[in-house]
Amino acid sequence: MKWLMRNFKERIRRALRHPAYTAKALAHDLLGIDERFLASVTNSSPRELRSFLNEPFRDEEFAHYLRECEPHLRAAFHPGNDPYAKKVLLQYAITRAVKPDLIVETGVASGVSSTYLLTACRLNGRGRVSSIDIDNGEYLPPGKLTGWMVPEYLRANWTLLLGDSKILLPRLLAQLGEVDIFIHDSSHTYEHMKFEFELSYPYIRSGGLLLSDDANFNAAFEECVKSFRPVRARVIRNVGVMKKP
Ligand SMILES: C[S@@+](CC[C@H](N)C(=O)[O-])C[C@H]1O[C@@H](n2cnc3c(N)ncnc32)[C@H](O)[C@@H]1O
Repeated sequence: MKWLMRNFKERIRRALRHPAYTAKALAHDLLGIDERFLASVTNSSPRELRSFLNEPFRDEEFAHYLRECEPHLRAAFHPGNDPYAKKVLLQYAITRAVKPDLIVETGVASGVSSTYLLTACRLNGRGRVSSIDIDNGEYLPPGKLTGWMVPEYLRANWTLLLGDSKILLPRLLAQLGEVDIFIHDSSHTYEHMKFEFELSYPYIRSGGLLLSDDANFNAAFEECVKSFRPVRARVIRNVGVMKKP
């Protein structure tokens, strides 16, 4: 669990603020519950999944790049900017295991998740990421642009669309026709999450995945699980995961 040792002080601070959540998350990690679930939705093995979760830190060049970005990310004072958050590692490991052709994500900010997703696609040797962000600067470090963290060498497989996902997401999905993975991490209001889930789900291919950051924020994810009837669904570390039949 190399990722646990990154950002150690911040993890301890968070653990002291949310002891019950931390105890449950640690138990899940130690018992490998999350890995087993993720392996089942990605048709891989828990061992393979665990190895993907540790992979970014075995890559010295990538680990060095994250360390370089860290001081800027810290200046934005937002937990969503944590380059070692388990939520982005989950997205990374899922992408490595599924080897998707098309990923759509809403909510970019500095581009932590986009960088991980594109790195996974690069190692897979296939896959593109289309990302949408309203670009209001809210989560950005001073003087930085939306997606600033995505390095030049990953940008050829990346489409960044700036604007409200209410307007851009319907157009993008209609244009793409079908996607392997949809990831929500934009506005976490009930209405907006419901809107993005209901719009994107029909475009996800059979066996594809819908992921949502902060899935426990309100009832939107839970309600959609009930109405969409995915083959498997769970919330791990506040990341909702649904697999389409
Ligand atoms: C928590 S941040 C995303 C973090 C990013 N996924 C990561 O892990 O690095 C949320 C982002 O959603 C964007 N956002 C908020 N409302 C939006 C909307 N209606 N359409 C598109 N993007 C939106 C914000 O500008 C912000 O950059």
